[in-house]
Amino acid sequence: RPRVLSGIQPTADSFHVGNYLGALRQWVDLQATHEAFYSIVDLHAITVEHDPELLRRRTRIAAAQLLALGIDPERSTLFVQSQVPAHTQLSWVLECLTGFGEASRMTQFKDKSVKGGADRSSVGLFTYPILQAADILAYRADLVPVGEDQRQHLELSRTLAGRFNGRFGPTLTVPSPHILKETAKVYDLTDPSAKMSKSSPGGALDLLADVKGSVKKIRSAVTDTGRDVVFDPENKPGVSNLLSLLSVFSGTPVPALQASFEGRGYGDLKKELGEAFAAFVTPLQASVKEYLDDPAELDALLTVGAGRAREVADATVSDVYEKVGLLLR
Ligand code: TYM
Repeated sequence: RPRVLSGIQPTADSFHVGNYLGALRQWVDLQATHEAFYSIVDLHAITVEHDPELLRRRTRIAAAQLLALGIDPERSTLFVQSQVPAHTQLSWVLECLTGFGEASRMTQFKDKSVKGGADRSSVGLFTYPILQAADILAYRADLVPVGEDQRQHLELSRTLAGRFNGRFGPTLTVPSPHILKETAKVYDLTDPSAKMSKSSPGGALDLLADVKGSVKKIRSAVTDTGRDVVFDPENKPGVSNLLSLLSVFSGTPVPALQASFEGRGYGDLKKELGEAFAAFVTPLQASVKEYLDDPAELDALLTVGAGRAREVADATVSDVYEKVGLLLR
């Protein structure tokens, strides 16, 4: 079976619907057809200032959400990045194959470092995409399900895999991004020109947020001029975003939804989305809570995952170290 790997940062108290539509839904689906490795990337989360206790808590919250969303630890390897040393071991080799200018062109670094400026950002934030490449290449993943914002990082992973193979002989798999067009970029509810992100909580719909509050957020989402509910991302970005969300949470294709809203207005769209979202997250939240009520069990499950991940990733590192001329361990 082909392999899939993806990762998510434990940097918030909840995942938002951008994470879910852009990536996590595909994580769940791909379990049926692929050998899946899914990682909570805590090492990526310390590239910016953070609170240690909060990180630990959020790592468990992340695991609980993934399980509640349908990641099946029997079928998939679910693990915490820092518990598999192969990621950083491979990352160093890849750093030595990456040009300084090449790393400088990664736009996420520019975006994230913009406030303090590059001078005040950590070197870890700078090399972040190379660690991400190591995450992927360590598992020789064929496919990487992510949202549109990760496309550039995926491109770097492909470049580095190709470069390594070119220099040292066929060793690493060149991974393909798996980015679903319709949900690759979910937009901010208060600003449909920006992507939904945890750094703009006002416009993000969190899976674990109080449901009433979320319904209210949906009700006050920014829409567009006119009154017809039509899917037209160019001219009606706000309405189109809400339609995409409703499509996922109701299980109804966008064209059928659009037909059902003929003669009705934005208010009805928001009402239906609120109901569908509430119906989705209410049982999800209960399930997350159950997982979090037993942190020892959760940790044990992650330990098993890390063990399985280590077997695969260690083999790649041994191969890579041998190819570059390091003495075998
Ligand atoms: P992260 O933790 O920011 O986001 C997790 C996933 O959610 C997707 N996403 C979105 N998709 C659509 N619309 C949005 N508004 C939206 N916001 C977030 C992201 O594209 C991502 O797929 N660098 C990665 C984590 C990572 C990783 C990896 C991913 C580390 N190593 C290896 C894949 C493979 C990140 O920060 O994602």
